[in-house]
Amino acid sequence: MKKILVMYCTNAGSTAEIAAKLAEELTVLGHQAASQAMDQVNQLESYDVVLIGAPMILGWHAAAKQFIRKNQAVLSQKQVAYFCTMVSLTQDGSTQAVGLPLFIDPQLAKAPVKPNRLSFRERYALAENYLRPIQKSAPKIKPMQVALFGGKLDMGKLNIFQMIFVLGIIRAQPGDFRNWAAIRQWAAEVNGLIS
Ligand SMILES: Cc1cc2nc3c(=O)[nH]c(=O)nc-3n(C[C@H](O)[C@H](O)[C@H](O)COP(=O)(O)O)c2cc1C
Repeated sequence: MKKILVMYCTNAGSTAEIAAKLAEELTVLGHQAASQAMDQVNQLESYDVVLIGAPMILGWHAAAKQFIRKNQAVLSQKQVAYFCTMVSLTQDGSTQAVGLPLFIDPQLAKAPVKPNRLSFRERYALAENYLRPIQKSAPKIKPMQVALFGGKLDMGKLNIFQMIFVLGIIRAQPGDFRNWAAIRQWAAEVNGLIS
């Protein structure tokens, strides 16, 4: 049994529910797991394993990148995994990006229209493009895996600037795209990676 922290930050709340589900699954798998908002985390030392989740909000949520940068020294000594929630991912067959093993929600990734000539939006939504700045924020942390999950887009919870970005730039449709089966499957994979 390991002591596991599933920490998260969120813009509109849906990543918190994924974190809670992961903690619940890992508890069922025999660990002492709890989810906690990133801004409530005041120590990491007591945990064996730390899962860090955040939505893509013009890149991984700024608070998550700041957290891993600030806590790089302690996190690089622990078993860590990241999870990212998002609504747009281009499928290019990669099982890793920037050297990090990926777990991809199969309902999230979409094949490009022309595989040998990606559009601007398709290139923007490559795993490699999302993960490079995350890895650059804290290069000493070597996550066991990075999960990319479908998220939830609730227009009622966004401000006008966020709405313009989401509708105009990434052209995402509102909806709840969370795939609970994939989230459960990832909890089982993480369990298998814990040593
Ligand atoms: C301002 C804004 C920017 C976003 N940028 C991206 C993005 O670049 N790529 C993507 O796939 N999803 C993007 N999303 C979608 C969110 O990552 C997704 O809705 C996520 O599930 C939100 O999680 P939350 O409910 O925990 O805030 C964006 C959403 C907002 C509001």
